[in-house]
Amino acid sequence: MSASSRPLLEVRHLATEFDTEQGVARALDDISFRLEAGETLGIVGESGCGKSVTSLSIMRLLPKPAGRIVGGEVIFDGQDLLQLSPDAMHGIRGNRIAMIFQEPMTALNPVYRVGHQLEEALLLHKPELDERQRRDACIGMLEKVGIPAPERRLKEYPHQLSGGMRQRVMIAMALLCDPDILIADEPTTALDVTIQAQILQLLRDLQRENGMSIIFITHDFGVIAEICDRVVVMYGGRIIEQAEILELFDHPLHPYTRGLLQAIPKLDTEPKSLLKTIPGMVPSLLDFPPGCRFQNRCEFAEPRCREETPPLLGEGHQVRCFRAEEFR
Ligand SMILES: Nc1ncnc2c1ncn2[C@@H]1O[C@H](COP(=O)(O)OP(=O)(O)OP(=O)(O)O)[C@@H](O)[C@H]1O
Ligand SMILES: [Mg+2]
Repeated sequence: MSASSRPLLEVRHLATEFDTEQGVARALDDISFRLEAGETLGIVGESGCGKSVTSLSIMRLLPKPAGRIVGGEVIFDGQDLLQLSPDAMHGIRGNRIAMIFQEPMTALNPVYRVGHQLEEALLLHKPELDERQRRDACIGMLEKVGIPAPERRLKEYPHQLSGGMRQRVMIAMALLCDPDILIADEPTTALDVTIQAQILQLLRDLQRENGMSIIFITHDFGVIAEICDRVVVMYGGRIIEQAEILELFDHPLHPYTRGLLQAIPKLDTEPKSLLKTIPGMVPSLLDFPPGCRFQNRCEFAEPRCREETPPLLGEGHQVRCFRAEEFR
Protein backbone atom coordinates (compact mmCIF):
# COMPACT_ATOMS: atom_id res chain seq x y z
CA MET A 1 0.00 0.00 0.00
CA SER A 2 1.82 3.09 -1.18
CA ALA A 3 1.16 6.51 0.24
CA SER A 4 0.41 7.86 -3.23
CA SER A 5 -2.28 5.30 -4.11
CA ARG A 6 -5.80 6.62 -3.87
CA PRO A 7 -7.66 5.37 -0.80
CA LEU A 8 -11.13 3.83 -1.21
CA LEU A 9 -12.63 6.48 1.06
CA GLU A 10 -11.13 9.75 2.16
CA VAL A 11 -12.85 12.03 4.64
CA ARG A 12 -11.39 15.54 4.55
CA HIS A 13 -12.04 18.23 7.16
CA LEU A 14 -15.60 17.07 7.75
CA ALA A 15 -17.64 19.36 10.03
CA THR A 16 -21.17 18.69 11.23
CA GLU A 17 -23.53 20.80 13.36
CA PHE A 18 -26.82 20.32 15.16
CA ASP A 19 -29.38 22.94 16.06
CA THR A 20 -30.32 22.48 19.70
CA GLU A 21 -32.52 24.46 22.06
CA GLN A 22 -29.38 25.94 23.57
CA GLY A 23 -27.83 26.91 20.26
CA VAL A 24 -25.68 25.38 17.54
CA ALA A 25 -23.57 22.40 18.60
CA ARG A 26 -20.50 21.57 16.53
CA ALA A 27 -20.63 17.76 16.80
CA LEU A 28 -17.78 17.12 14.34
CA ASP A 29 -14.85 19.41 13.75
CA ASP A 30 -12.12 18.84 11.17
CA ILE A 31 -12.52 15.06 10.81
CA SER A 32 -9.99 13.66 8.32
CA PHE A 33 -9.09 10.03 7.74
CA ARG A 34 -8.51 7.51 4.95
CA LEU A 35 -9.82 4.01 4.48
CA GLU A 36 -7.88 1.69 2.19
CA ALA A 37 -9.43 -1.17 0.21
CA GLY A 38 -9.66 -4.33 2.32
CA GLU A 39 -8.72 -2.53 5.51
CA THR A 40 -10.53 -2.47 8.86
CA LEU A 41 -10.45 0.96 10.47
CA GLY A 42 -11.55 1.34 14.06
CA ILE A 43 -13.15 4.51 15.41
CA VAL A 44 -12.94 4.61 19.18
CA GLY A 45 -13.88 7.13 21.85
CA GLU A 46 -16.25 7.55 24.76
CA SER A 47 -19.98 8.11 24.49
CA GLY A 48 -20.90 11.34 22.73
CA CYS A 49 -17.54 11.94 21.04
CA GLY A 50 -19.09 11.80 17.56
CA LYS A 51 -18.56 8.26 16.31
CA SER A 52 -22.13 7.73 15.13
CA VAL A 53 -22.44 11.25 13.78
CA THR A 54 -19.31 10.55 11.70
CA SER A 55 -20.90 7.49 10.10
CA LEU A 56 -24.28 9.20 9.65
CA SER A 57 -22.52 12.14 7.98
CA ILE A 58 -20.66 9.84 5.57
CA MET A 59 -23.96 8.11 4.71
CA ARG A 60 -25.82 11.44 4.58
CA LEU A 61 -28.31 10.10 7.07
CA LEU A 62 -28.16 12.89 9.67
CA PRO A 63 -31.51 13.60 11.33
CA LYS A 64 -33.16 16.48 9.49
CA PRO A 65 -33.56 19.36 9.89
CA ALA A 66 -31.51 19.53 13.11
CA GLY A 67 -28.31 18.05 11.71
CA ARG A 68 -26.24 19.33 8.80
CA ILE A 69 -22.79 19.01 7.32
CA VAL A 70 -21.20 22.44 7.25
CA GLY A 71 -17.85 21.67 5.68
CA GLY A 72 -15.48 19.13 4.26
CA GLU A 73 -15.52 16.36 1.69
CA VAL A 74 -16.19 12.63 1.67
CA ILE A 75 -14.37 11.26 -1.35
CA PHE A 76 -15.45 7.76 -2.32
CA ASP A 77 -14.23 6.18 -5.52
CA GLY A 78 -13.10 9.56 -6.80
CA GLN A 79 -16.33 11.50 -6.13
CA ASP A 80 -17.45 13.68 -3.25
CA LEU A 81 -20.49 12.00 -1.71
CA LEU A 82 -21.55 15.31 -0.19
CA GLN A 83 -22.07 16.73 -3.70
CA LEU A 84 -24.14 13.85 -5.08
CA SER A 85 -27.83 14.21 -5.88
CA PRO A 86 -30.16 12.39 -3.46
CA ASP A 87 -30.79 9.76 -6.15
CA ALA A 88 -27.11 9.15 -6.77
CA MET A 89 -26.50 8.93 -3.02
CA HIS A 90 -29.32 6.43 -2.74
CA GLY A 91 -27.51 4.28 -5.28
CA ILE A 92 -24.37 4.29 -3.12
CA ARG A 93 -26.09 3.70 0.20
CA GLY A 94 -26.74 0.05 0.93
CA ASN A 95 -25.23 -0.88 -2.39
CA ARG A 96 -21.61 0.20 -2.18
CA ILE A 97 -21.51 1.43 1.41
CA ALA A 98 -23.65 -0.51 3.88
CA MET A 99 -24.20 0.07 7.56
CA ILE A 100 -25.09 -2.06 10.56
CA PHE A 101 -26.23 -0.63 13.86
CA GLN A 102 -25.88 -1.34 17.53
CA GLU A 103 -29.50 -2.37 17.97
CA PRO A 104 -30.73 -4.48 15.06
CA MET A 105 -34.36 -3.69 15.85
CA THR A 106 -33.77 -0.15 14.64
CA ALA A 107 -32.90 -1.51 11.19
CA LEU A 108 -35.31 -4.43 11.04
CA ASN A 109 -38.99 -3.74 10.65
CA PRO A 110 -40.95 -5.64 13.32
CA VAL A 111 -44.06 -6.10 11.17
CA TYR A 112 -42.42 -7.89 8.22
CA ARG A 113 -40.97 -11.37 8.04
CA VAL A 114 -37.19 -11.66 7.81
CA GLY A 115 -37.38 -13.08 4.29
CA HIS A 116 -39.49 -10.20 3.05
CA GLN A 117 -37.03 -7.64 4.39
CA LEU A 118 -34.01 -9.38 2.92
CA GLU A 119 -35.74 -9.68 -0.45
CA GLU A 120 -36.78 -6.03 -0.36
CA ALA A 121 -33.15 -5.05 0.14
CA LEU A 122 -32.15 -7.15 -2.85
CA LEU A 123 -35.04 -5.90 -4.98
CA LEU A 124 -33.87 -2.36 -4.38
CA HIS A 125 -30.23 -2.96 -5.17
CA LYS A 126 -30.25 -5.90 -7.58
CA PRO A 127 -33.46 -5.51 -9.58
CA GLU A 128 -32.11 -7.82 -12.29
CA LEU A 129 -32.65 -10.93 -10.14
CA ASP A 130 -35.88 -12.91 -10.49
CA GLU A 131 -37.89 -14.15 -7.52
CA ARG A 132 -36.19 -17.51 -7.40
CA GLN A 133 -32.71 -15.99 -7.56
CA ARG A 134 -33.59 -13.54 -4.82
CA ARG A 135 -34.76 -16.31 -2.53
CA ASP A 136 -31.68 -18.39 -3.22
CA ALA A 137 -29.43 -15.41 -2.56
CA CYS A 138 -31.16 -14.72 0.77
CA ILE A 139 -30.88 -18.33 1.90
CA GLY A 140 -27.25 -18.46 0.83
CA MET A 141 -26.44 -15.29 2.74
CA LEU A 142 -28.21 -16.47 5.92
CA GLU A 143 -26.17 -19.66 5.73
CA LYS A 144 -23.02 -17.65 5.28
CA VAL A 145 -23.66 -15.61 8.42
CA GLY A 146 -24.21 -18.80 10.39
CA ILE A 147 -27.98 -18.96 10.72
CA PRO A 148 -29.22 -22.55 10.98
CA ALA A 149 -32.31 -23.64 9.04
CA PRO A 150 -32.43 -20.46 6.91
CA GLU A 151 -35.56 -21.50 4.98
CA ARG A 152 -37.47 -21.53 8.25
CA ARG A 153 -35.95 -18.24 9.45
CA LEU A 154 -37.12 -16.47 6.32
CA LYS A 155 -40.70 -16.99 7.47
CA GLU A 156 -40.09 -15.64 10.98
CA TYR A 157 -40.52 -12.13 12.37
CA PRO A 158 -37.58 -10.26 13.95
CA HIS A 159 -38.96 -10.66 17.49
CA GLN A 160 -38.82 -14.43 17.10
CA LEU A 161 -35.02 -14.28 16.80
CA SER A 162 -32.45 -13.96 19.58
CA GLY A 163 -30.30 -10.79 19.73
CA GLY A 164 -27.35 -12.59 18.16
CA MET A 165 -29.52 -13.97 15.35
CA ARG A 166 -31.03 -10.55 14.66
CA GLN A 167 -27.54 -9.10 14.43
CA ARG A 168 -26.63 -11.84 11.94
CA VAL A 169 -29.73 -11.09 9.90
CA MET A 170 -28.74 -7.43 9.80
CA ILE A 171 -25.22 -8.34 8.69
CA ALA A 172 -26.73 -10.60 6.03
CA MET A 173 -28.94 -7.75 4.84
CA ALA A 174 -25.97 -5.39 4.68
CA LEU A 175 -23.84 -7.90 2.78
CA LEU A 176 -26.45 -9.05 0.27
CA CYS A 177 -25.47 -6.26 -2.08
CA ASP A 178 -21.77 -6.98 -1.73
CA PRO A 179 -20.74 -3.51 -0.50
CA ASP A 180 -17.24 -2.09 -0.87
CA ILE A 181 -17.47 -0.65 2.63
CA LEU A 182 -19.30 -1.91 5.69
CA ILE A 183 -19.78 0.61 8.49
CA ALA A 184 -20.42 -1.29 11.71
CA ASP A 185 -21.58 1.03 14.50
CA GLU A 186 -21.08 -0.84 17.79
CA PRO A 187 -22.64 -3.98 16.28
CA THR A 188 -21.74 -6.19 19.20
CA THR A 189 -22.22 -3.93 22.21
CA ALA A 190 -25.69 -5.27 23.03
CA LEU A 191 -24.61 -8.90 22.78
CA ASP A 192 -23.08 -11.18 25.36
CA VAL A 193 -19.36 -11.84 25.16
CA THR A 194 -19.54 -15.23 23.43
CA ILE A 195 -21.91 -14.03 20.71
CA GLN A 196 -19.81 -10.87 20.37
CA ALA A 197 -16.72 -12.98 19.66
CA GLN A 198 -18.67 -15.02 17.09
CA ILE A 199 -19.86 -11.91 15.26
CA LEU A 200 -16.33 -10.46 15.15
CA GLN A 201 -15.04 -13.76 13.77
CA LEU A 202 -17.84 -13.75 11.21
CA LEU A 203 -16.96 -10.23 10.05
CA ARG A 204 -13.31 -11.23 9.70
CA ASP A 205 -14.21 -14.33 7.69
CA LEU A 206 -16.58 -12.45 5.40
CA GLN A 207 -13.98 -9.77 4.86
CA ARG A 208 -11.35 -12.34 3.92
CA GLU A 209 -13.81 -13.78 1.43
CA ASN A 210 -15.05 -10.63 -0.30
CA GLY A 211 -12.26 -8.13 0.40
CA MET A 212 -14.54 -5.37 1.67
CA SER A 213 -13.30 -2.54 3.87
CA ILE A 214 -14.80 -2.13 7.33
CA ILE A 215 -15.21 0.91 9.54
CA PHE A 216 -15.71 -0.52 12.99
CA ILE A 217 -17.08 1.84 15.62
CA THR A 218 -16.77 0.99 19.30
CA HIS A 219 -15.84 2.36 22.70
CA ASP A 220 -14.07 -0.88 23.51
CA PHE A 221 -10.32 -0.99 22.86
CA GLY A 222 -10.38 -4.75 23.35
CA VAL A 223 -12.62 -5.14 20.30
CA ILE A 224 -10.44 -2.70 18.36
CA ALA A 225 -7.38 -4.81 19.12
CA GLU A 226 -9.10 -7.93 17.80
CA ILE A 227 -10.35 -6.70 14.49
CA CYS A 228 -8.72 -3.46 13.33
CA ASP A 229 -5.68 -2.66 11.19
CA ARG A 230 -5.73 1.02 12.04
CA VAL A 231 -7.53 3.12 14.59
CA VAL A 232 -8.88 6.64 14.87
CA VAL A 233 -9.31 8.00 18.41
CA MET A 234 -11.98 10.69 18.83
CA TYR A 235 -12.55 13.14 21.63
CA GLY A 236 -15.19 15.87 21.72
CA GLY A 237 -15.95 15.73 18.00
CA ARG A 238 -12.34 15.80 16.88
CA ILE A 239 -9.80 13.16 15.93
CA ILE A 240 -7.05 13.42 18.49
CA GLU A 241 -4.87 10.54 17.30
CA GLN A 242 -4.71 7.93 14.55
CA ALA A 243 -2.20 5.18 13.79
CA GLU A 244 -1.72 1.55 12.88
CA ILE A 245 -3.07 -0.61 15.65
CA LEU A 246 0.21 -1.96 17.05
CA GLU A 247 1.87 1.42 16.80
CA LEU A 248 -0.98 2.99 18.77
CA PHE A 249 -0.92 0.34 21.47
CA ASP A 250 2.89 0.48 21.77
CA HIS A 251 3.36 4.25 21.49
CA PRO A 252 0.19 6.16 22.34
CA LEU A 253 1.06 9.86 22.06
CA HIS A 254 -2.02 11.81 23.12
CA PRO A 255 -2.59 12.09 26.89
CA TYR A 256 -6.19 10.98 26.31
CA THR A 257 -5.18 7.84 24.40
CA ARG A 258 -2.55 7.10 27.00
CA GLY A 259 -5.19 7.36 29.69
CA LEU A 260 -7.61 5.18 27.72
CA LEU A 261 -5.05 2.45 27.22
CA GLN A 262 -4.05 2.45 30.86
CA ALA A 263 -7.71 2.12 31.71
CA ILE A 264 -8.43 -0.96 29.59
CA PRO A 265 -10.90 -2.83 31.75
CA LYS A 266 -10.39 -6.29 33.14
CA LEU A 267 -12.59 -8.98 31.64
CA ASP A 268 -15.10 -8.71 34.47
CA THR A 269 -15.77 -4.98 34.24
CA GLU A 270 -18.12 -3.16 31.92
CA PRO A 271 -16.56 -1.36 28.95
CA LYS A 272 -18.49 1.76 29.94
CA SER A 273 -16.16 2.14 32.93
CA LEU A 274 -13.25 2.62 30.54
CA LEU A 275 -12.65 6.20 31.50
CA LYS A 276 -13.01 6.14 35.24
CA THR A 277 -9.28 6.66 35.63
CA ILE A 278 -9.20 9.91 33.64
CA PRO A 279 -10.63 12.48 36.02
CA GLY A 280 -13.11 15.10 34.87
CA MET A 281 -15.89 15.21 32.31
CA VAL A 282 -16.20 15.97 28.62
CA PRO A 283 -17.55 19.53 28.34
CA SER A 284 -20.84 20.03 26.52
CA LEU A 285 -20.56 20.48 22.76
CA LEU A 286 -22.05 23.92 23.25
CA ASP A 287 -19.35 25.27 25.46
CA PHE A 288 -16.05 23.81 24.52
CA PRO A 289 -13.42 26.35 25.48
CA PRO A 290 -11.02 27.62 22.80
CA GLY A 291 -7.96 25.46 22.23
CA CYS A 292 -7.60 21.77 22.91
CA ARG A 293 -10.86 20.10 23.89
CA PHE A 294 -9.13 17.79 26.36
CA GLN A 295 -7.41 20.63 28.26
CA ASN A 296 -9.63 20.52 31.35
CA ARG A 297 -8.76 16.87 31.97
CA CYS A 298 -5.15 16.93 30.87
CA GLU A 299 -2.32 16.82 33.36
CA PHE A 300 0.06 18.20 30.73
CA ALA A 301 -1.99 21.23 29.66
CA GLU A 302 -0.07 24.50 29.36
CA PRO A 303 -1.27 28.03 28.54
CA ARG A 304 -1.14 27.63 24.78
CA CYS A 305 -3.39 24.53 24.96
CA ARG A 306 -6.11 26.89 26.23
CA GLU A 307 -5.63 29.39 23.41
CA GLU A 308 -4.94 27.49 20.19
CA THR A 309 -6.35 24.32 18.69
CA PRO A 310 -3.46 21.93 18.14
CA PRO A 311 -3.34 20.67 14.54
CA LEU A 312 -3.46 16.94 13.73
CA LEU A 313 0.15 16.33 12.75
CA GLY A 314 2.34 13.46 11.62
CA GLU A 315 2.83 10.95 8.83
CA GLY A 316 1.09 7.64 9.42
CA HIS A 317 0.87 8.16 13.16
CA GLN A 318 -1.00 11.45 13.62
CA VAL A 319 -1.67 13.25 16.87
CA ARG A 320 -3.41 16.49 17.87
CA CYS A 321 -1.35 17.65 20.85
CA PHE A 322 1.26 20.38 21.31
CA ARG A 323 3.18 18.20 23.73
CA ALA A 324 3.03 14.91 21.86
CA GLU A 325 6.65 15.15 20.72
CA GLU A 326 7.68 14.63 24.33
CA PHE A 327 6.14 11.16 24.20
CA ARG A 328 7.46 10.04 20.80
N1 LIG B 1 -30.07 14.77 16.77
C1 LIG B 1 -29.16 15.41 17.52
N2 LIG B 1 -29.39 16.66 17.99
C2 LIG B 1 -28.47 17.31 18.73
N3 LIG B 1 -27.28 16.78 19.07
C3 LIG B 1 -26.99 15.55 18.64
C4 LIG B 1 -27.91 14.80 17.84
N4 LIG B 1 -27.34 13.59 17.56
C5 LIG B 1 -26.13 13.62 18.15
N5 LIG B 1 -25.92 14.78 18.79
C6 LIG B 1 -24.74 15.16 19.56
O1 LIG B 1 -23.58 14.86 18.82
C7 LIG B 1 -22.58 14.33 19.68
C8 LIG B 1 -22.01 13.07 19.12
O2 LIG B 1 -23.00 12.07 19.18
P1 LIG B 1 -22.73 10.60 18.66
O3 LIG B 1 -24.05 9.92 18.65
O4 LIG B 1 -21.98 10.63 17.39
O5 LIG B 1 -21.81 9.99 19.80
P2 LIG B 1 -21.14 8.55 19.83
O6 LIG B 1 -19.68 8.74 19.85
O7 LIG B 1 -21.71 7.72 18.75
O8 LIG B 1 -21.60 8.03 21.27
P3 LIG B 1 -22.07 6.55 21.73
O9 LIG B 1 -20.81 5.80 22.06
O10 LIG B 1 -22.87 6.82 22.96
O11 LIG B 1 -22.86 5.94 20.62
C9 LIG B 1 -23.23 14.14 21.04
O12 LIG B 1 -22.76 15.12 21.92
C10 LIG B 1 -24.68 14.28 20.79
O13 LIG B 1 -25.32 14.94 21.88
MG1 LIG C 1 -22.92 6.05 18.70
